[in-house]
Amino acid sequence: MIEVRPFCGDPADLAAFINACWNDRYLARDLIPTYSAADLSWQMLESPDRSFHLAAYDGSQLVGCFLADRVRVRLNGQSVEGTQGSYLSVHPDYGARGVATRLINTLERLHRAHDLKFFLGYVNSSPTSSAYKFWSSFQRTFPKRYRTLGPVQFWMRFLKAGHMASELDNAAEAAGLKVLSLLQPAPAVRAGSPVRPFHSGDLAACHLLLDAEAQRHRLAQLWNAADLRHELAASPVSHTLVSSNGSGVQGFATSFHWPMKGRGRIPAEVIDLLLLHDLSAAGKRELLRSCVADIAARGAWVAVLPRPDFRDAATFLACGFVPVPNVCTLMTLFPSAELDWAGLDGSGLSGAGERGR
Ligand SMILES: CC(C)(COP(=O)(O)OP(=O)(O)OC[C@H]1O[C@@H](n2cnc3c(N)ncnc32)[C@H](O)[C@@H]1OP(=O)(O)O)[C@@H](O)C(=O)NCCC(=O)NCCS
Repeated sequence: MIEVRPFCGDPADLAAFINACWNDRYLARDLIPTYSAADLSWQMLESPDRSFHLAAYDGSQLVGCFLADRVRVRLNGQSVEGTQGSYLSVHPDYGARGVATRLINTLERLHRAHDLKFFLGYVNSSPTSSAYKFWSSFQRTFPKRYRTLGPVQFWMRFLKAGHMASELDNAAEAAGLKVLSLLQPAPAVRAGSPVRPFHSGDLAACHLLLDAEAQRHRLAQLWNAADLRHELAASPVSHTLVSSNGSGVQGFATSFHWPMKGRGRIPAEVIDLLLLHDLSAAGKRELLRSCVADIAARGAWVAVLPRPDFRDAATFLACGFVPVPNVCTLMTLFPSAELDWAGLDGSGLSGAGERGR
């Protein structure tokens, strides 16, 4: 008999479980994320409230998981609380037996019990992917419990394009990357740059920038100080750079370790929060170039930047990024009837990246 309850085991076991579930069902060309205990702990498991980190057990055996954390968003001017999550995984031996459905139903019951108004998540847009097939079928069966909010585009900056080429299963993409590796210089930091590592005294200024950014969007994450401190503080898997002149912090960029799997392991980082609005065009390029140079220095082969749209394209192209449209879709599960999603079709979540937390 399958039982669903909050996960309280070893992060290394959960990371290995998720990797095994995904590796089995995706091909090299799908470039899926691959997790370590440290990455998963930073992204989710260090959260003080684990009530929404759901695991399914058959006796003592872990057979499924679906992890979410509370999140507050500004939706069309209204502040509402829900959850954001990811990592829905079911052991291949337990597929098509309703385990995923039980995990989703348990999360929905918890939402009702805690008066949470929505769940936000990302779904792979490739029609052949396990995620797309599962959620398309779920949406057809339960149209009121699933709503598509908008596409997520990736900007990708290849730092070791030649190495990447050998990991890909697609000959045309591999050839393109080999050409790119000859044309693109390695990213470098300019002497006298106003960009420097974040320190704890920058927290309030960064928070203000995020709150101001939230006012400019229909849907944006509203951060609390504790979660933002966790996001911005340097750790073995996460880093923040701020752009600061005499009048204070004007922009910042966070990134975290996010290795992927092609034929083998691909060292990669996600650029998560990127606050550019108050910077000049040159300042935007300076912050992004510095961020990419740091990521390259840490050994990543590629930096990935998810965005709801292609705004600031001139900055990304000038810094060597390549646009990859429609990689995944932002969706909401069990949205409360009173929420106003007007005008949201085609726009995404600002102020939050791929992290569940
Ligand atoms: C996507 C995933 C989580 C689905 O897990 P699952 O436990 O097989 O899902 P369910 O059993 O709840 O539903 C899958 C199908 O089995 C069917 N099913 C459910 N219970 C069943 C039962 N008792 N007997 C037969 N079929 C059943 C469901 O109706 C569904 O069919 P449909 O897609 O035709 O509607 C799993 O395939 C997985 O781990 N994939 C890799 C990771 C991934 O891509 N995750 C998604 C991240 S967004």
